[in-house]
Amino acid sequence: MKRILFVCLGNICRSPGAEAIMKAKVKERGMEREFFIDSAGLYSGHSGSLPDERMRRHAARRGYCLDSRARTFYAMQDFADFDLIIGMDGQNIHQLKRLAENEEERKKIFKMTDFCQDMKGYEEVPDPYYGGDKGFELVLDLLEDATEGLYKYCCKT
Ligand code: 4NP
Repeated sequence: MKRILFVCLGNICRSPGAEAIMKAKVKERGMEREFFIDSAGLYSGHSGSLPDERMRRHAARRGYCLDSRARTFYAMQDFADFDLIIGMDGQNIHQLKRLAENEEERKKIFKMTDFCQDMKGYEEVPDPYYGGDKGFELVLDLLEDATEGLYKYCCKT
């Protein structure tokens, strides 16, 4: 069983997208029993909200239903409950590393783009919140690519 937590700032755009895409991939392969997948935000301002309407619309066009509710990342609980804590950008990683209390917790932190297979030139999944349609499409392209790499990584380890 692999327990994976996707983390971004608001938990209304990138990390719920990653959660839905990874869940779809796992389901498609009949591997639901091998994975526990969730997402959380480092900023609590959107707690309880559905994903951003723009993110939901772009994701729906690719067949993903984003219906999770935003929640805040709780360091003590989440570092204990998950094997992989996957941030979306450099700022997320910086914050997660500051919240980790020891080396064991630090070793659980990864950046989403570490798992990219085709989109190698990207160092992070950029925050789409203040941008336009292209930003959301780029997020989805990166998440689809990286979740494929992540799935393979999980099957190997
Ligand atoms: P996310 O996007 O981190 O991908 O969920 C954002 C959502 C909200 C804000 C920033 C980024 N915000 O500033 O409220």
